[in-house]
Amino acid sequence: MKNQKKINRRNWLQLGIGATIGTISLKLFGCKESPSKEDTIVEKCVPTQYDTMGPFHPNKDQADKDFDLTKFNGSDKRPKGELIYVRGKVTDENCNPIPGALVMIWHANTHGKYTHEYDTNKIEDDPDFQGWGQMKTNEKGEYGFKTIKPGKYMFDADNDDWRAPHIHVKVARRGYHELITQMYFEEDTELNDKDVFASKLSKSEREQVIRPSEKGGQKIEAEASLINFDIALKSVRNGEKDKKEFAEFIGVYEINFKSTPLEKELIDFYGGNRNELRITISKEDGILNAEMPIQPKCEIFPKSKNRFVYRAFEADIEFKWDEESQVTGLVFHRHFDFPEIIAEKIKG
Ligand SMILES: [Fe+2]
Repeated sequence: MKNQKKINRRNWLQLGIGATIGTISLKLFGCKESPSKEDTIVEKCVPTQYDTMGPFHPNKDQADKDFDLTKFNGSDKRPKGELIYVRGKVTDENCNPIPGALVMIWHANTHGKYTHEYDTNKIEDDPDFQGWGQMKTNEKGEYGFKTIKPGKYMFDADNDDWRAPHIHVKVARRGYHELITQMYFEEDTELNDKDVFASKLSKSEREQVIRPSEKGGQKIEAEASLINFDIALKSVRNGEKDKKEFAEFIGVYEINFKSTPLEKELIDFYGGNRNELRITISKEDGILNAEMPIQPKCEIFPKSKNRFVYRAFEADIEFKWDEESQVTGLVFHRHFDFPEIIAEKIKG
């Protein structure tokens, strides 16, 4: 029965890479930056650590996507679960507030299920839960969401591996590197200590993203909890904006399947249609982004002149040049023991 388990978006890497190399990737999805090795983040406005985007990033627009996730499409019925408020301030590295930053959150319902087409696990849906929301910070850089505490969910049934309750957070503002991270609840000590991501954080990173809750308090319901989650973004430096060589990389790249033996499950996972499995590289404000059919656009971080880290795919992207100094394609050097993926530039 074990071997017949289907790959889904929660456990695919254990079955794919795990089976191949006998280990489990700790940075599965999303635009995750490697956690810093040193345990030195103690000041207040040290940029918040990047964490995985996960497979359930909202991929469809919806009319109701405001800051109150407990009210969906005007219904008076509140979703099941413990009422919480997540509030905080978005600043730069020097603690200057960042007004107008777009803060987006998404998380599972109280039963541990996402409002997302790819979450096919047989867990109860909650039609009264909004699933995700977004808002812009005010002139003081403040934001705030009203929602319910997400439930834990099974990550890998074979190993009795659970994800601790967490809220995915994405923050974007022109002039700053996009941040994707996860916020955890301090009260869930045991689950956090076992969580595949939270358990790998350094002490100072834990302080940033594993947050205490406070019951009641000013201007919130007596039964509700308040969690403060301040976020600091990294500024895009002027030098980065001027990088001219980035222009050569912009374009659309098509994966060459003749030279890339990918399993069907992975092709399905990354975009379904193998004839249209493309990577689009674009540049905005000095930031280079990569995008695939079902992966949202996210920043790729330079490692060297031709090599970038693409965290949504857990790979390095290396651009290839011909003798006439034209970029002709790219190679995905997958992290871990996975075959390279070769893509040819078809546009741009
Ligand atoms: Fe998640």
